[in-house]
Amino acid sequence: MMIKNICCMGAGYVGGPTMAVIADHCPNIQVTVVDLNQQRIDAWNDSDLSRLPVYEPGLDFVVDRARGRNLHFSTDVDSAIAAADIVFISVNTPTKVKGLGAGQASDLRWVEACSRQVANAAQGHTIVVEKSTLPVRTAETIRTILEASQAPLQEGEVPKSFAVLSNPEFLAEGTAIRDLECPDRVLIGGEDDDSINALADVYMHWVEPAKILRTNLWSSELSKLTANAFLAQRISSINSVAALCESTGADVQEVARAIGTDSRIGPKFLQSGPGFGGSCFQKDILNLVYLCRHFGLPEVASYWESVVELNTWQQHRISRLIVQRLFGTVTGKRVAILGFAFKADTNDTREAPAIRIALDLLEEGAQLAIHDPKVEQAQIARDLREAPVELDPATGKSQGLSGVGSWLSANSVEEAVEGADAVVLLTEWSQYKSLDWQDLSRRMRRPAWVFDSRTIVDPDQVRSAGLRLWCVGNGSL
Ligand code: NAD
Ligand code: UGA
Repeated sequence: MMIKNICCMGAGYVGGPTMAVIADHCPNIQVTVVDLNQQRIDAWNDSDLSRLPVYEPGLDFVVDRARGRNLHFSTDVDSAIAAADIVFISVNTPTKVKGLGAGQASDLRWVEACSRQVANAAQGHTIVVEKSTLPVRTAETIRTILEASQAPLQEGEVPKSFAVLSNPEFLAEGTAIRDLECPDRVLIGGEDDDSINALADVYMHWVEPAKILRTNLWSSELSKLTANAFLAQRISSINSVAALCESTGADVQEVARAIGTDSRIGPKFLQSGPGFGGSCFQKDILNLVYLCRHFGLPEVASYWESVVELNTWQQHRISRLIVQRLFGTVTGKRVAILGFAFKADTNDTREAPAIRIALDLLEEGAQLAIHDPKVEQAQIARDLREAPVELDPATGKSQGLSGVGSWLSANSVEEAVEGADAVVLLTEWSQYKSLDWQDLSRRMRRPAWVFDSRTIVDPDQVRSAGLRLWCVGNGSL
């Protein structure tokens, strides 16, 4: 079976970059990415590549090469499905906020809507691929919906047929293009070899065959949830050790290096920080927890749940210690927040540690000056559920009510730090690694603090600039 036409439903952080890389490597395949969100599609079609809806290093070059040639972005979902040999479902699967399983189970309404639309609009044989991260056995639901669409045929009508595959995505934001170009593995779960081979052939345009793993459907679905759970578990483990380091005089960087050189443990994902963010780790672990309870495994559920609990604790721990070091109160004090994205090299703020830490500090009455090189003010306002404070044109100072927390968006680090009692580093943007602490120190009110949750500052430079320093997991400061 030769694939000539691909449709991807969902033009988000996964659908956009993944399809751009497929189109780039497979000029003989027409790839159409569709979305219900007209604004998002317009942004993908924007001639100014700096306005693509997703910020990823290198994405603009890939889109530039393929767009208009064999990469298309559209809201005409039905036409793209009808023309497709393969339809990828790459839509959002957030945690349910109400009803059965609220707070843990995945909300599958968008996946179900896609399945129904494919069932209606598809023509001939169509391979439907789960690209979204899904609970185990979702493929069964999708197959049931697709099969139910087989209406009695009119004369001369070609019957529809479907195959369902699971092909979870393992890219990380900020390195998405590199991860897609050189994946550790491509996982394809399915039941019929023809469909699996057809999808494998697409990837084999640039991925070596040995890296293409074939499993049954349920192993593939579960492997995705498990991979994220294992990665997140390492972060919670090292963050738990970081707290112990701070209490004992040990340094978590040294501990991480010492344990990471054991080849059985390995050095990656041992960076202590403000807790993991991003749209997936928490959602996927909670989904796993829900599945474990559903299948009568409460002990397994509690084990994984503790990974999320430790993460939440780490974020509140950081906001608490900021308040404590600033003499027990931040009311009315200016605190510069450097970095709002959940990690460097992305404009994504979903579940960013900065949100929880900023909300805690606002609750304590702080005046936050937030800087991030890629996150827009409107996004921060949505995340904090509060508009930025107006500045008094005469004094240039904020006009917030006294005692009530407020925030503003700063255009530069210097502007954020002006008059601040503390700088809190929350995202490891490279520009924050070479700040001029002598200059920043002069702009701050004394005694002034630097809280480095990403271990990116040089402690000697910060302290020689007369600033007090807390660095996550470093008990020797
Ligand atoms: P996203 O929210 O950025 O994008 C999803 C898009 O789907 C949205 O633009 C939405 O408008 C669109 N959509 C919803 N219903 C639709 C429909 N019926 N038809 C067409 N479009 C529709 O989400 P994302 O970050 O791209 O994640 C998508 C899936 O991939 C999730 O299941 C996620 O867990 C998984 N995943 C994400 C990442 C990541 O780094 N973000 C990595 C691996 C896997
Ligand atoms: C993660 C996984 O790494 C991807 O394989 C997966 O495809 C994706 O989730 C998904 O399913 O969405 P992502 O969330 O984009 O990717 O980014 P990561 O690099 O994993 O970072 C996640 C969070 O953990 C970030 O907040 C990051 O700062 C934090 N982190 C990461 C640490 O605190 N320490 C580390 O050592 C590594």
